[in-house]
Amino acid sequence: MPALYDLFRDQYSPERFTVIGIDYKPLNDERFRQRLREGVDQFSRRGKAEDATWHAFAQRLAFVSANFSDPTTFTTLAQQLGDLDEHWDTHATRVFYLATPPTLVEPIARHLGKARLARDRKRTRIVVEKPFGHDLASACALNAVLTEIFDEAQIYRIDHYLGKETVQNILAFRFANALFEPIWDRRYIDHVQITVAERVGVEHRGAYYDQAGALRDMVQNHLLQLLCLIAMEPPVVFQADEIRNKKVDVLQAIRSIERDEVHLFAVRGQYAAGWIDGIWVPSYRSEPGVAPTSPTETFAALKLFIDNWRWQGVPFYLRTGTRMPARVSEVVIQLRPAPHQLFPSSAVGDWQPNRLVINLQPVEGILIRFQAKQPGLRLRLGPEDMVFTYKQAFEHPSPEAYETLLLDVIRGDATLFMRSDQVEVAWSVVTPILETWAATPPDFPNYPAGTWGPEAADLLLARDAPQWLLPSFPQAPRGPQLLTQR
Ligand code: BG6
Repeated sequence: MPALYDLFRDQYSPERFTVIGIDYKPLNDERFRQRLREGVDQFSRRGKAEDATWHAFAQRLAFVSANFSDPTTFTTLAQQLGDLDEHWDTHATRVFYLATPPTLVEPIARHLGKARLARDRKRTRIVVEKPFGHDLASACALNAVLTEIFDEAQIYRIDHYLGKETVQNILAFRFANALFEPIWDRRYIDHVQITVAERVGVEHRGAYYDQAGALRDMVQNHLLQLLCLIAMEPPVVFQADEIRNKKVDVLQAIRSIERDEVHLFAVRGQYAAGWIDGIWVPSYRSEPGVAPTSPTETFAALKLFIDNWRWQGVPFYLRTGTRMPARVSEVVIQLRPAPHQLFPSSAVGDWQPNRLVINLQPVEGILIRFQAKQPGLRLRLGPEDMVFTYKQAFEHPSPEAYETLLLDVIRGDATLFMRSDQVEVAWSVVTPILETWAATPPDFPNYPAGTWGPEAADLLLARDAPQWLLPSFPQAPRGPQLLTQR
């Protein structure tokens, strides 16, 4: 709702629109609007709503208290939407946004179908939030139901990472510049690291998280999507299906991990109590909604290979976790060393290969690390950084991911949404790991809150020599126990 409000405030919304909230809760229009305003005041990137703008926006908000299992909810809705069309003298675009528990997606979709609300293929869209299925089989089953009722082009599966400005910028960076593409392959790139670390624990989401875990919650979607953007071939045109085809190619080329090899390619962890910013925080198993002997992972690290011409032999390391020392999402492209070392060893004390770091948050920027001659009469080389940040480069703050995504749904642009085959192949990448982990009891908890995960995650890399890296972004938070090198 803050995203919708901000779109309205910036005059991106269509001139005429109505948002109808449906929930079983006994609210009325006034209470509904009041609650949404509280949400906007708290979460809008622009701070508190302005009275006049809010008032104009609130006129367009309505609430219906109804039961999702009752077919009359949907026939009444159909009537209400028909009345609006008549009043506006048009066939309005309809977006059904399912901000519901996953178990309600299928019944609601079926009811929409029965109430003939899915019929207008051009002007009707359905938006589904993650988690999209729980595993490969449930995702396929959900896709089958949705595509029975809607055309694939009407279904917008949200992965909010794809709406982030810096994530979209990966495409611009790679394909709008001639500088990087020639070196973007196995000849020049040593390995890639993708880290999405969170400082928070599971907070009030224990009941959901304990059923999901880090691999389902973050890797199957956000991290694999980042990997696709880094590894995909150049699209021929900037069109939804072309871009999604190229991403699916990457996912299909990921080498499958045999069940008896999972320990060589995947590491899981769960946090024990520990210190974060001088505050003692409880272990995962003592969080509300979490089982006291929970086997759910709050940390996952993977080593993946992409079996194609471009990436043969280049490891992609992915890691994500909660209760880490810092909130940071970033991609590190580590280049191979220069092929020939012509400088005297006295000049190259701190020699490092080139590195490109794409920071998605919190800094939103790109850093290129290169060797430079240090000033002075003696020849000494050392690593220096060239840094671009959105904040320094642009006056206007970036829109929130949901502003971009909601506007795209309204306009009917599916480029930043997940197609059914993408979701399914992403599940098939993680399925052997999920199944192997489910069948083997974990040694949890295995990392203290406020650290970078279990020791085994370092060993996952250590076999190939590199270490997990954090960049030297000027404002990047650095936590204790950095198992990283500069
Ligand atoms: C969500 C996950 O998809 O992404 C959450 O369900 C996670 O567990 C969140 O906290 C992270 O999003 P962001 O934008 O804060 O990096």
